Amino acid sequence: MTGIANRVRHFGPSVFVEINALARQYNAVNLSQGAPDFDGPPEVIAAAVQALQSGRTAQYAPSVGAPSLRAAVAEHAARHYGQSVDPEREVLIVAGASLGMFFAIMGLVDPGDEVIVFEPFFDTYLPNIQMAGGVPRFVPLRPPTWTFDPDELAAAFNRRTKAIIVNTPHNPTGKIFSREELALIADLCRQWDVVALTDEVYEHLLYDGAEHVRLATLPGMAERTLTISSAGKTFSVTGFKIGWCIGPADLLEGPMQVHAFSMFAVQHPLQEAVAAALRLPDSYFVGLQAFYQPRRDFLAAALQRAGFSLALPELLGAYYIVADFSPIFQGDDMAFARYLAREVGVTCIPVSAFLSKAHQDSSQSLVRFTFCKRDETLHAAAERLTKLDR
Ligand SMILES: Cc1ncc(COP(=O)(O)O)c(C=O)c1O
Repeated sequence: MTGIANRVRHFGPSVFVEINALARQYNAVNLSQGAPDFDGPPEVIAAAVQALQSGRTAQYAPSVGAPSLRAAVAEHAARHYGQSVDPEREVLIVAGASLGMFFAIMGLVDPGDEVIVFEPFFDTYLPNIQMAGGVPRFVPLRPPTWTFDPDELAAAFNRRTKAIIVNTPHNPTGKIFSREELALIADLCRQWDVVALTDEVYEHLLYDGAEHVRLATLPGMAERTLTISSAGKTFSVTGFKIGWCIGPADLLEGPMQVHAFSMFAVQHPLQEAVAAALRLPDSYFVGLQAFYQPRRDFLAAALQRAGFSLALPELLGAYYIVADFSPIFQGDDMAFARYLAREVGVTCIPVSAFLSKAHQDSSQSLVRFTFCKRDETLHAAAERLTKLDR
């Protein structure tokens, strides 16, 4: 008897599972998964403890989310983007942005509907679309600078297009979509009456003065955009798994149904902690750039010294660097990731993990490293990487 349903049979194992196993096996410095190796801000941890001890959060939160967090999400949107959000009707709290995207797709996409996805893409999107019976349409972001061809994007839209997923800043490339690129996407969405599902989990991780533009704030987009984000990356609390979907009530209705009949309500104490986190002063958000930018520069220099060439977008955000190993290794990206773990003691993620099966050959020599790590971790990785340049 085989237990696995056809709907999920072909997904295969997650590359993160294999790479994390390699990291343990070779005691490698793990620069693969985008999770910090340090704790979140003490104020946020304290708020979680206080919520747990308050005697008010051990039971289910309201299904749509704790009122304090919904209010904080709306205040944050107004403070950072001038976006006007009704916390009563336009916010759904979910257990992380991944689940927010899954609920959005399951709640909005019917079998046969097309969903446009920029490729490479965060690895949950495609299985999510397939579980809904949707049809993915890929638009390539081309290395080394990860730009897309406006004509290719326009050609991806048609009468069957239901939604487009826009992840900015982007995983794995770090690309920040510029205001002009987003305006082009917005024009096409309006023209074809398409819903935009944005994944903005890296919204505060921006370098060199770059700006994050919320697609929902462009003209005519508020009524057709679900903005999805979470606390994990902004507050270095990926283990909390608290996220939110913001959008007009009619667009939120479907995702709310999926949420109400699956998870129903999200872990209550951590919602209170994230409400406090979102209200941290501006200095916290600005400080993220000062914290991460030197780490980015350090890792970029270490990779270049080791012989990689970097595939950097014009505007870089998030906490990843994609590097081309072809000057130092012959073989595909998975073979290189295994080699690097075994021989050098550093782990990375092959970029083919972020591509559809049909396009996996196009990333043969690219891997992703993260710099969301302590200085000691990055120094240890840099030291090991020197083995490659000998
Ligand atoms: C683009 C993107 N979306 C979503 C997530 C997951 O967010 P959460 O932990 O809030 O579900 C990640 C985590 O790496 C990500 O890179």
